Amino acid sequence: MSEIPGNKPLETEFYYPPEKTTKNANIKEYDSLYRHSIENREKFWAERAEKLSWFTKWDKVLDESNPPFYKWFTGGKINIVHNAVDRHLTNWRRNKIAVIWEGEPGDTRIFSYHELNREISKLGNVLKSMGVKKGDIVTIYMPQIPELLISMLACAKIGAAHSVVYGGFSVEALAGRIEDANSKVLLTADGGYRRGKITDLKSIANEAMKRSATIETCITVKRTGHEVVMENDRDFWYHDMMSLPIASPVCETEKTDAEDMLFVLYTSGTTGKPKGIVHTHGGYSVYTSTTHEFVFDIKDEDRWWCAADPGWITGHSYIIYGPLINGSTIVMYEGAPNHPYPNRWWQMIEKYGVSILYTSPTAIRGLMRFGEAWPNRHDLSSLRLLGSVGEPINPEAWKWYSRVIGKNNCPIMDTWWQTETGGFMITPLPITPLKPGSATKPFFGIEIGVVDDAGNEVKTGEEGKLVLKKPWPGMARTIHKDPDRFVETYWKDFKKQGWYKTGDSARMDKDGYVWIIGRIDDVIKVSGYRLGTAEIESALVSHPAISEAAAITVPDELRGNAIHAYAILRNGFTGSKQLEEEVRKHVSHEIGPIAKPDSVTFVETLPKTRSGKIMRRVLKARAMGLDEGDLTTLEE
Ligand code: WT7
Repeated sequence: MSEIPGNKPLETEFYYPPEKTTKNANIKEYDSLYRHSIENREKFWAERAEKLSWFTKWDKVLDESNPPFYKWFTGGKINIVHNAVDRHLTNWRRNKIAVIWEGEPGDTRIFSYHELNREISKLGNVLKSMGVKKGDIVTIYMPQIPELLISMLACAKIGAAHSVVYGGFSVEALAGRIEDANSKVLLTADGGYRRGKITDLKSIANEAMKRSATIETCITVKRTGHEVVMENDRDFWYHDMMSLPIASPVCETEKTDAEDMLFVLYTSGTTGKPKGIVHTHGGYSVYTSTTHEFVFDIKDEDRWWCAADPGWITGHSYIIYGPLINGSTIVMYEGAPNHPYPNRWWQMIEKYGVSILYTSPTAIRGLMRFGEAWPNRHDLSSLRLLGSVGEPINPEAWKWYSRVIGKNNCPIMDTWWQTETGGFMITPLPITPLKPGSATKPFFGIEIGVVDDAGNEVKTGEEGKLVLKKPWPGMARTIHKDPDRFVETYWKDFKKQGWYKTGDSARMDKDGYVWIIGRIDDVIKVSGYRLGTAEIESALVSHPAISEAAAITVPDELRGNAIHAYAILRNGFTGSKQLEEEVRKHVSHEIGPIAKPDSVTFVETLPKTRSGKIMRRVLKARAMGLDEGDLTTLEE
């Protein structure tokens, strides 16, 4: 892996949290509590679980009888919505603001916990009337509007699982996910706003419903009001359904088992088919709420803004579930950070008095480009903590974020985790001395290793594979409909030791600080978004002109990585600028704009091993003008 030039991290550079932070922190000491959490793992998590409200208490904290299919809090009955909403209704938080939402055009909607509960309950009843029941998976494909969060919570409340498909994904990505989940109900919107334009979600949904035949009912939120095609007997407007007598604001919360499926979230793997990562009600509730409270030092007076999209795990865990369980006030914004001007986020922080901002390095680098004058125009003094997630943060962006946004007064929580882990794994606490670019140390109860292929710890400062050695409550339970792939993907390489393979490489310095280097499999991160080279390649070869293709990434200053594609043309086609453009658009139409390659190079052959595997490493070295390395297995 290569680092962005001029941006090498300095392992000896410490940033100490200000006294006001350490003095008031919920957690005042790391080492001894960490030791306690490792030595008394089950006790530690049981104590955390006690903080939640259970219908029936668990019999067993951790069931390790069938690894790697670990179970947590078995025998317990709990519903995440009971904890995220219902239990707040019986105390003063009933009238606390749960959600402050702002649309890109500037419209705002605010929900107290009481109001949020009414919306969720009404929709829960609507879904029930459509035959949605426990065990079903409802697909949700929406822009960042309050109905997205209401839909997720409504499903969970009635015991159904949700599968949220990020609104930036397109036809093939949506169709594949609907089909894999076998969803009969789709919740969508006519569109949303992004950079002043309307994203036409309903047309994409319509096309996806043609490709996958499982959807019987589609409920559409009217967000933009532009004309869309609605099909009789299948399509209904959300507002029509919500005004029917059936949409009563009283709806019982299903008493789900701790291990019942809460959601499936599809994420890219090393094959073309995305994996449906399964999380459950019990362990995930405990894990997201604990990590959110400890790492971001959550207080009742906070205004928490996780500027991710709910369509990704970051949004599931830290816009919605963790913060609502903690009774926080959350801020959500629909659109682009630089619309209409690059001060949009800073304006929001000032307007709503945001106290904690959690975002990605790509967003920070993007806003950094517009210069300091934009944030400097705004009063950002409400901020007390900042966060980063999704990709390694380069020291230059870290320092800008700390100085210009945090005024050297807000520690940055660089949280390393994955869709599969459910919540933060390696992360500072507000009391941790920070090193720009390092996610610092493992969270409580988490044991990590940086190892070689045989499982030996590598030397201090050397690069190795990052593994997770012990189960934790927020861990993925399986891959939907494909338990073998779950074992194969994460648990095979270190089967003997029983460790989870993260797919990342990292190094640990002499102070025990972890430096994440990046993915070492065919998963790629572009602007912090997770994609698979195989997915992009299968979209490329679905174009009629292309017979074979390879996709790689090269380092990019803004987005971390940029996608370069190589394609072999079918007989009768010749490469041209125009065809390149058409192929790029095709990938964008199939997967989504985030997967659009920066370039498509038409080639005669692709470097392959004798067994026929494309050697992406060779393409990458060539693209970057580097040594091609060991070519003994190359077929050419
Ligand atoms: C991959 C997981 C987990 C929320 C969003 C991403 C990379 C994530 C960091 C970080 C360096 C990071 C890793 C990881 N990653 N956070 N703080 N520093 N790299 O979830 O889409 O499942 O992607 O994101 O490569 O494996 P995801």
